Parts: sequence; C-alpha cells; structure tokens
Amino acid sequence: MNLRVIILLLSLVVFVAGKVHRFRLQRRSHRHHKVPQAHQHLQFRNALRRKYGFTPLRIKTSQSRASKGEVVSENLIDAYNTNFFGEVSVGGQPFTMLFDTGSSDFWVPSSHCQVCITKCGNRFFNESKSKTFHTKRVPFSIQYGSGAVQGIVGSDDVGLGDLKIRQQGLGLVNITDSCDAFDGIGGMGFPPLSETRSKPLFQQMIDQKLVEQPIFSFHLKSGSSDGGSMILGGSNSSLYYGYLTYTNVIEATYWTFKMDFIEVHGKGLRGCVGGCKAIMDTGTSLIVGPALDILLLNNAIGARHNSTYDLYIVDCSSIPKLPTIVLGIANKKFYITPQTYVIVFEDMCFTGFNDLRGLTFWIIGDVFIRENYVEFDWARKRIGIARAAEVD
Ligand SMILES: *[C@@H]1O[C@H](CO)[C@@H](O)[C@H](O)[C@H]1NC(C)=O
Ligand SMILES: *[C@@H]1O[C@H](CO)[C@@H](O)[C@H](O)[C@H]1NC(C)=O
Ligand SMILES: *[C@@H]1O[C@H](CO)[C@@H](O)[C@H](O)[C@H]1NC(C)=O
Ligand SMILES: *[C@@H]1O[C@H](CO)[C@@H](O)[C@H](O)[C@H]1NC(C)=O
Repeated sequence: MNLRVIILLLSLVVFVAGKVHRFRLQRRSHRHHKVPQAHQHLQFRNALRRKYGFTPLRIKTSQSRASKGEVVSENLIDAYNTNFFGEVSVGGQPFTMLFDTGSSDFWVPSSHCQVCITKCGNRFFNESKSKTFHTKRVPFSIQYGSGAVQGIVGSDDVGLGDLKIRQQGLGLVNITDSCDAFDGIGGMGFPPLSETRSKPLFQQMIDQKLVEQPIFSFHLKSGSSDGGSMILGGSNSSLYYGYLTYTNVIEATYWTFKMDFIEVHGKGLRGCVGGCKAIMDTGTSLIVGPALDILLLNNAIGARHNSTYDLYIVDCSSIPKLPTIVLGIANKKFYITPQTYVIVFEDMCFTGFNDLRGLTFWIIGDVFIRENYVEFDWARKRIGIARAAEVD
C-alpha cells in the first residue's frame, strides 16, 4: 500500500470518527427550592394530557394563586429537577434547549413573548439580529408537556456543539402559558408529530450529512449538575454495560414500542401483563401510566397517595430499603433503583410513578433513562437499551 492510500484511509477514519458528536447536557438545580404547589402539579398534568392528546381536566382549586389573577411562573417540570438541557445557537443567538423525543418541533421564544421574557426570564430570538433568518409568517400552535405555545414559523441556522444545521424550521413563540427552566424545545420525535410542519432537527442532520449514522442516544445522569450527554451520529459503548437490546418502534410518531411488563421486584406485582404500548420520552421527567397500574405499583412500593399534591409519598429514610422496579422489554429486564426513582424535595420524597386519567399506554421518561442508556435508531426505527455506565 502506498503512502497516499494510507493517508487517504487515515483521513477517512478521522473524518468518519469525527462525525459522532458528543453533546454535553446540563442539569439545572431548581430556582425555587420548595415543595411543589398542588395547582402547579395540576398544570403539569394538564400540559402532559394535552401533549398526549387528552382533554385537560378542569382546574377546580379556588385557593390557587392563578385564580387570584397571578400568573403562575414556576412549572413543576422545572421543580422536579430532572430535566436535561443543552446550549445551542439560533441565527447566532444562544438558547438553552430541552431535547425532547416526545415532540418533533424546534422552537424558541420570540421578542413578542412578554411572558417568556419578563415572567420567565427566558432568552428570546431577535429577528433583526440574524442575517440568515427567513419567514413567511405562517402561524402555528403546539401543546407541550410544559404548556401551550403559539407563534409563527421561520427558519434559521442552528449551531449545536461543533455541528451547524442550515435552515432549521423553527417556531418563534409569542404566547406561552407556563415557564420553564429552558428557553426552547428541540423535538427529537418523528416528522408526523411536527405542528410547524418542519423537518425535525435530526432529519436535517441526516440530510445535511452531519452525522455518521442516523442514530442518536442519551446518557443521562442523576445527582449532579452534569446532566450527561446526547450523542449524535451513533452510540458510545463506554457509556453503557454489555450490549444494547433492541426493540422495534411500532408507530413512528413518538418513539413508541412494546413494553412486556413493569414489575415491583420481590413483591409479586406486575403491571402491563401481556404487553402494552409505551413511549420513550426524554422530555418527561417521570414515568406516567394508567391510573390503576400506577396505584398498584405505588402500593407495592409502599408509597402513600397524598391528595394535596396528587403524588405518591415515601418516607425519605426508607429509600435504601425500597424495592427495585423492573421493566421487561424485548425479553430482557431493565432496572430502576429507588435512589433513581424517588424524587427528593427537601424533606418530601415522592416516587417518579404518576398517573394520567384516561391514559392507556405508558410514558417512559427520565426516571428510566437516568439509569438506562437509550439509543434512538432513526432509520431502522428501533430503540436500543442497556444499563448505563457511571462514567462522565
Ligand atoms: C433587536 O436587535 C436590534 C438590532 O440589534 C435592536 O435594535 C433591537 O432593539 C433588538 N430588539 C429587542 C427587542 O431587543
Ligand atoms: C402570536 O402569533 C399568532 C400567530 O401568528 C398571532 O395570531 C397572534 O396575534 C400573535 N400574538 C402576539 C401577542 O404577538
Ligand atoms: C465515549 O465515552 C468515553 C467515556 O466518557 C469518553 O472517554 C470518550 O471520549 C467517548 N467517545 C466519544 C467518541 O465521544
Ligand atoms: C401531603 O404532604 C404535605 C407535605 O408533607 C402535607 O403537608 C399534607 O398534609 C399532605 N396531605 C395529605 C392529604 O396527606
């Protein structure tokens, strides 16, 4: 082999290897270190209901601050302290984004969103500061787990780590009904979910040949401000143990798959017997399921329902003694330990298993992903899972 061929091969290897991008995520400590307000929890539930196509429940609390005409500015999603963010630039302007496999739009606040700017303290997009921004001012509206948003559709260049995505379709939000710790959302779901009728971010990365393989993955971490990472273009086998177990996506809208069962280890309690539909959602903090299954699951853990918050509470000192939760997927078992699934809130501890009335499927959120590495294979439409390694 002559030198030119070797150099060519070498540069090819370097080039290809350079196409797997590791994008660091951060985890924000909550701004308001206090027990969640009941009405915020209802707001969170309603937003989640809307995200998954359910009619919101009536807000009945007459004591809530919202009914006194005050804008509720904290959102429980933020308060749960289990969301993961990354910094991006849109038309050269910086934003903190939530990367959400449970939606498919990319949006940031516009300069017309007074609530976003003054109440929430979020950063906004200034159209006149970007030379690459385009818009036909087509309106859109979206319901998210964190609230409702509306505005106009446009496109601009997006910088994400060392990647530059040209003319990403984006929603510029002028109205929002809740605040979040992040400025905007980067949807990692499939095209049919896009409300702005834009090509999703990851589809753009594939089309613009920015990633080696049409695969991205999440390695989320618990307990520190380092949130872990989102890997674009493949997987990093140093971040998980053993091999990935694959399960097919059964509907390419959300990342929908078949879960075989959910079990409280050692308690003989099994939910979703015979299999059920589940959605892998990095944009939801908790695991959300049908009301009866969630009740039985929490009972078997030993958690008590607290009607003030509509959450299942455990004694904080009991965490090390609580059982492990087992999820059966593709004939394998995946675990969630109590150190991960109990959310500690000063002196209040609640489980990460919550219901949504009328829900017939399961939403598998960060409570699961913080302990299990998940690969999202866009082209082959499958999800790969392995126990996450505790590395940085
Ligand atoms: C947007 O940017 C322009 C040009 O830099 C500036 O004059 C204007 O004040 C900015 N608008 C807002 C709302 O900050
Ligand atoms: C927000 O955008 C929508 C859609 O373009 C528009 O109908 C509405 O008037 C805008 N509201 C504000 C406050 O800018
Ligand atoms: C994979 O993860 C390991 C462990 O954190 C890290 O040292 C390595 O640089 C990563 N590889 C890539 C290609 O990001
Ligand atoms: C729910 O928990 C809070 C905080 O521990 C407590 O003040 C409240 O009384 C509880 N509500 C019920 C109905 O047990």
